[in-house]
Amino acid sequence: MDTLLKPDNVGLFELAERVLPGAGLGGYALPEDIRFVFSEGAGARLRDVEGREYIDYVGGAGALILGHSHPPVVEAAQDQAARGMHMFGTLSEPAIRLAARLVEDIPCAEKIVYATTGSEATAYAMRLARAFTGRDMVLKFEGAYHGNHDYALTSTFPTALGNDPHGQNDTAGRPAGTRATMLVAPYNDAQAVERIIRERRDELAAIIVEPVQRIIPARPEFLQALRRICDESGVLLIFDEVVTGFRLAYGGAQVHYDVTPDLASFGKVIGAGGPLACVGGRAEILDLCDPRRKGEPNYVYFNGTLHGNPVAAAATLAMLDELARPGIYDRLNGFAEATCAECQKILDRHGLPAIAENTGSLWQILFMARSPDSQADIMAGDAAAARRLDVECMKRGIYALPGVRRFFSTTHGEPELADTLRVLDASCRAIN
Ligand SMILES: Cc1ncc(COP(=O)(O)O)c(C=O)c1O
Repeated sequence: MDTLLKPDNVGLFELAERVLPGAGLGGYALPEDIRFVFSEGAGARLRDVEGREYIDYVGGAGALILGHSHPPVVEAAQDQAARGMHMFGTLSEPAIRLAARLVEDIPCAEKIVYATTGSEATAYAMRLARAFTGRDMVLKFEGAYHGNHDYALTSTFPTALGNDPHGQNDTAGRPAGTRATMLVAPYNDAQAVERIIRERRDELAAIIVEPVQRIIPARPEFLQALRRICDESGVLLIFDEVVTGFRLAYGGAQVHYDVTPDLASFGKVIGAGGPLACVGGRAEILDLCDPRRKGEPNYVYFNGTLHGNPVAAAATLAMLDELARPGIYDRLNGFAEATCAECQKILDRHGLPAIAENTGSLWQILFMARSPDSQADIMAGDAAAARRLDVECMKRGIYALPGVRRFFSTTHGEPELADTLRVLDASCRAIN
């Protein structure tokens, strides 16, 4: 095993092939000829170990809304790290101050509980909803991603439509009992939800929804209808704000849409790239987690080694100070809109049947005629063509995972716009 660890004996890819399944970190495999290993990030740019530079539209999967290594965030993290990387079991000042800040800023949050990842936050939210309602089932939407756990992995990557209400299984290894507790409905379709609720209201604990499902924005009236349906049926409404929280708007999609859920999961931007996520919601629900209630029948267990990690909490507080400055979101979203408009001109000039689509600072190039409103629209698009274009862009220095929705940060500016348009133009030529 010793020799594996000597970098001069073996290249980094070869080493990764030997010790990581698929030589990767998760669900994404890049084509063999464009693999690279990052060494550093600054602002909107990444550099690999061979010195090549990339414009970064992955942004740590959306966590880095201020770009890489934003100085006040780095300073806050370094300052806290020097005074202690982690404390477990009792409180740290950054953990308390961040909780107070989130309760102030998130409309649905009378209290929060910490988690380490977005997946853990959605799992806690579902568990809380089950405990609070005494019901087992959760309704999600076809094509929505809620993380890596067994409850979430239903019809996340459907290969065909029309699997509602039972959904398609997304992974081997999920127990049948878990699968049986999840239902699915088509996104942006309140009537389908009402049909399911009519039949299953006494079994349903919650509806969990992404307010922007991947790249599809919720129609405002869809979220309003979900709120009404939940109020009428005693089902809890969970917003999965792991992506939209403090990205679509300060406070989250619930501020943008003016619809307040019962519970909401946050991660990515909340965490500032560190190991921190949370669930916010009504106090009477979150208080089920109060450890002084251990032994009561509806006490909800939540606990984790890294919960409330002070380094991530300090970094997040520094980031929220920046995000709270007036005009930040207008500038970020305006820049996203303007970049997409310029990208659209290039796609049109090359005669490609594609759209450069953005919702706030989320964006993607999709091969379809009009903005998607449903998973059916997404599946009717030409995903292979989109992937071909994204791969060509990546070869020329744009880091955006092929076929995956991407993110702007506040550090993307005119130089990135110019480089992006130049790369897109060359990439369109390459696939045409
Ligand atoms: C909407 C949504 N929920 C949950 C998650 C899971 O978060 P994590 O990857 O931090 O576990 C993600 C991750 O991409 C997400 O996009």
